[in-house]
Amino acid sequence: MLHSARERGHTGRLVGVDPDRAALARARRRGDVDWWVGTAAELTFEAEFDLAVMASHAFQCLVGDDELRVSLAAVRSALRPGGRFAFETRHPQARVWEAWHPGHAREVEDASGRRLRVWHTVESVEGDVVTFTETTADATGPVLRTDRTRLRFLDAPALDAFLAEAGLIVDARYGDWSRGPVTPRSTELVTVARRV
Ligand SMILES: C[S@@+](CC[C@H](N)C(=O)[O-])C[C@H]1O[C@@H](n2cnc3c(N)ncnc32)[C@H](O)[C@@H]1O
Repeated sequence: MLHSARERGHTGRLVGVDPDRAALARARRRGDVDWWVGTAAELTFEAEFDLAVMASHAFQCLVGDDELRVSLAAVRSALRPGGRFAFETRHPQARVWEAWHPGHAREVEDASGRRLRVWHTVESVEGDVVTFTETTADATGPVLRTDRTRLRFLDAPALDAFLAEAGLIVDARYGDWSRGPVTPRSTELVTVARRV
């Protein structure tokens, strides 16, 4: 996303943060963005940015109340007054985790063109937290790795309460990436909040 922002003419400071060193190593193939290893909670910026974005449902990795609170406080501190925080989460009403089973395995290609098979297995659904594994195998069979993840599925009122507590008010909420409204069939909650 940051590479794309640069390519489309963004001339200001672009900083990408992720705790995953392997992901950052790949992102660093371009040098016109600053990359920092760390979590949202570890951000130490003070009123330096107009916009913070958590893309690709990364927000749902914030599972515990404490981590959520500390992360939102750090994001708020990084924003200038009036700055915005945009992120998308999967709408819990869609119960997408019910489709996360080995029968829905998909084939993907890695950066070197190797064909891989990826599937998910849900271990538990406890309240709004879903625990599952993602298995990556070579398309010819051998399993290469299995990663275990917990994701939190907050509904809009719960999201807004955490945001308000952190000093972020919701400016806009959409049900898709085309700025459509949230409906009973929406699978996404796209939130744009502002530092008050
Ligand atoms: C679905 S991936 C998205 C990857 C990449 N940012 C993108 O947009 O393509 C979710 C990312 O969230 C990162 N993540 C997990 N916990 C995080 C946290 N507490 N703060 C920031 N990022 C986190 C993971 O390392 C992972 O790279």
